[in-house]
Amino acid sequence: MVFNIRMAIFWGPEVDTKSSVIYNPHIGPPVLVNPMIFVAGTSGSGKSETLMGQMERAAAYGDWTTYFDLENEAKERIENIDGKYIDVRPGFRIGLNPMDLEVEEDKNGRRFIDIYGKSTEMTLFLNVLVNQYFARNLDGLEITTIEESLFNLYKHERGINENPDSLYIDEVDPENNKVTVGKVKKGNADTIRPKSRTI
Ligand SMILES: Nc1ncnc2c1ncn2[C@@H]1O[C@H](COP(=O)(O)OP(=O)(O)OP(=O)(O)O)[C@@H](O)[C@H]1O
Ligand SMILES: [Mg+2]
Repeated sequence: MVFNIRMAIFWGPEVDTKSSVIYNPHIGPPVLVNPMIFVAGTSGSGKSETLMGQMERAAAYGDWTTYFDLENEAKERIENIDGKYIDVRPGFRIGLNPMDLEVEEDKNGRRFIDIYGKSTEMTLFLNVLVNQYFARNLDGLEITTIEESLFNLYKHERGINENPDSLYIDEVDPENNKVTVGKVKKGNADTIRPKSRTI
């Protein structure tokens, strides 16, 4: 994400006072303690329009937005601003890998890979799926099994640890015989399936 602390988005005139409403998600405390907003209104009052407008104006600043288009109404607007529209449907590959790891930075500027955080995230994600399909939560044994499988995948099979360099392989990909300049990310964890683990 392009992070521009001066970014302030004009939302329009306020209905009663006609004064400008300007939203700056990055302004921080004491003006805004966090960038969360809650948009409420009766049906047809303009909630979707408000959020799509926010997305378009943010794009004009070079800022990225993830827009969950639950109503199937934003495709044209997203493509108009050169956004990537991803149709998520059962049975179709979407090209997103929830198990993918990224290099993160803590408040002291130390770069690291948060395998523990990813493990918690994946457990929560799988719990949502189990909840959706079986109307129950994962039990303790299942949670432990998922965590162990993930650690095994990341650490032992892929050799990925806290060190950002462990996320990459060097230069040559023998399978495709491709030589690249710079770092190449190790294969996606979702392409490996543990042999004997079932949940
Ligand atoms: N600021 C605006 N200026 C002009 N037209 C607007 C504005 N905001 C919304 N509209 C129009 O009003 C209609 C309803 O808006 P929108 O779909 O954003 O409402 P909504 O609150 O999301 O409705 P729903 O609850 O049904 O999802 C749309 O046709 C939209 O284009
Ligand atoms: Mg709407």
